[in-house]
Amino acid sequence: MKGPKVLAAALIAVTLDNVQALQRKRDTSRADIQYQAHYFQQKINHFPENKLPYAKDNFTQRYYFDSTYYKPGGPVYLYISGETSATNGLGVILENRYYGASYPFNTSTTDQLAFLTTAQTIADNSYFAQNAVFPGIEGDLTAPGTPWILYGGSLAGAQTAFSIKKYGDVLYGGIAASAPIHVVVGYPEWYNPIQKYAPQECVNRINNIVDKFDALVAKKQTAAIKQFKALFGLEVLTDNRDFASAIADPIGNPGFYLSNTWQELNWNSTYGSRDFFYFCGNVSNIDAPKEISDVDYALSKYTNGEPWVGLGGYADYIKKHTLPLCSSGDYNSHDCWGTQNKSAWADISNTATRSYVYTSCTEQWAFPKGKYNKVPASPDLNVYNSFGDFNFSANRLAFVDGDQDVWNGLCYHSPLAPARRQTSDLHPELFITGSGHHWDSYGILNVDAEPQFIREAHLWEIRTVKQWLQRAILLYSITEYLPEY
Ligand SMILES: *[C@@H]1O[C@H](CO)[C@@H](O)[C@H](O)[C@H]1NC(C)=O
Ligand SMILES: *[C@@H]1O[C@H](CO)[C@@H](O)[C@H](O)[C@H]1NC(C)=O
Ligand SMILES: *[C@@H]1O[C@H](CO)[C@@H](O)[C@H](O)[C@H]1NC(C)=O
Ligand SMILES: *[C@@H]1O[C@H](CO)[C@@H](O)[C@H](O)[C@H]1NC(C)=O
Ligand SMILES: *[C@@H]1O[C@H](CO)[C@@H](O)[C@H](O)[C@H]1NC(C)=O
Ligand SMILES: *[C@@H]1O[C@H](CO)[C@@H](O)[C@H](O)[C@H]1NC(C)=O
Repeated sequence: MKGPKVLAAALIAVTLDNVQALQRKRDTSRADIQYQAHYFQQKINHFPENKLPYAKDNFTQRYYFDSTYYKPGGPVYLYISGETSATNGLGVILENRYYGASYPFNTSTTDQLAFLTTAQTIADNSYFAQNAVFPGIEGDLTAPGTPWILYGGSLAGAQTAFSIKKYGDVLYGGIAASAPIHVVVGYPEWYNPIQKYAPQECVNRINNIVDKFDALVAKKQTAAIKQFKALFGLEVLTDNRDFASAIADPIGNPGFYLSNTWQELNWNSTYGSRDFFYFCGNVSNIDAPKEISDVDYALSKYTNGEPWVGLGGYADYIKKHTLPLCSSGDYNSHDCWGTQNKSAWADISNTATRSYVYTSCTEQWAFPKGKYNKVPASPDLNVYNSFGDFNFSANRLAFVDGDQDVWNGLCYHSPLAPARRQTSDLHPELFITGSGHHWDSYGILNVDAEPQFIREAHLWEIRTVKQWLQRAILLYSITEYLPEY
């Protein structure tokens, strides 16, 4: 008899954001303190046809679990709130390979990174679900005998979607939050929600200043460019691209930045930062002291006497609040805004940044051709998009997105996606008005006390998963009575 006597749901929550967010999460992560780390013998390689060295070896993959709410038997209710608390369910967090304490190798050369692929990563989820042990918990909780429900936000949301699509026979269902299921080379649309939803006087001022500076660059007005950089205390950034990314730091970009930006806002300030609004407050400050507002006229001779409205507040904010984020004080270094140091890119130390860059970029300085592995001249988008792209569909896979999310252009609810798709019990979807990047990942234990838009999204997620599980109970109890074939 294969049907489970003990029905439980397990939750994998792998939230893998861009590197800054990762860094912050590591800094603020309470997991080490609250929960004991466990280590799983994971296969370095899941595909027998792969004959690379080490392909037959294991590595240790870290995981945590929370059995506070776990009860053997009875119906299963799964609470999804970013904390891994699920009524009667068991919450598990499995660390992504090549991050944290889950590196297969001591360094990250191009060859050693060969096993950091989407295919291997999602196979980890399936293999783990089929073999996981939970010390102290009685009974066999492995999949598919026990329904496993995945939850992931951001890149982990995409991994959730891919896992359910590829391993739907093992993994019962999943919620993919703000999952970029479509990839592109270059993503200027990242700024669209900021242009649309951020305070408009701030947006207009910044747009006008950027246009004016671009005109100086187009006309090669070297002296004016130098003077502009000096207003921000950034003369040292001779590469205009690096300079642009430094003064854009409080707004961010799809790659690397040091500030808390629009992406780091959150409905609950415990999990996010208001810095973006403070930045805008400075750019739009109508009460700025004269020595700051005078700076608006510093370059007006290049614009027919027209002031660069907000420049004083902008430059002052950068000097006081952005430059100090560069801890070495060397603004042109690799750790801050300098991107032109080849040997810094080539550093093979294991870091989250390097793993993320390997997954996302085309940077040849970082990954010279190895003996067995090389990065393509341009990323092979098809490997990723072929899971379904904007037409992505898998049974018991829910897509949850937010309209204010900078990554929404790549998600299920992207403005580029086909307009009319039908939601159903097996293919549920929710587009949360007012929500940023997987804001549903954050919750408080009392869902009723949450703000309406998040509360209702959480209640929807609970209903969705409950409904799937009710069907599972039905399915498994029927099998109990079926004769063995
Ligand atoms: C890898 O770990 C599995 C248990 O997950 C074990 O059965 C297997 O022998 C290990 N293989 C190697 C090469 O260590
Ligand atoms: C990796 O580092 C550990 C601890 O420093 C060491 O014991 C081990 O031999 C190293 N492995 C390799 C393959 O270099
Ligand atoms: C300017 O930014 C600082 C630092 O975040 C903040 O404390 C201050 O309130 C902001 N000023 C305005 C006028 O918003
Ligand atoms: C470039 O990076 C390397 C390795 O991190 C470092 O040792 C070197 O000082 C850097 N060079 C410059 C000019 O910053
Ligand atoms: C999605 O499906 C529609 C209708 O079948 C098709 O026209 C479109 O090209 C597909 N889009 C993608 C990105 O696959
Ligand atoms: C924000 O989260 C904290 C920690 O979970 C909680 O104590 C607080 O009540 C929450 N605030 C709101 C407005 O939900």
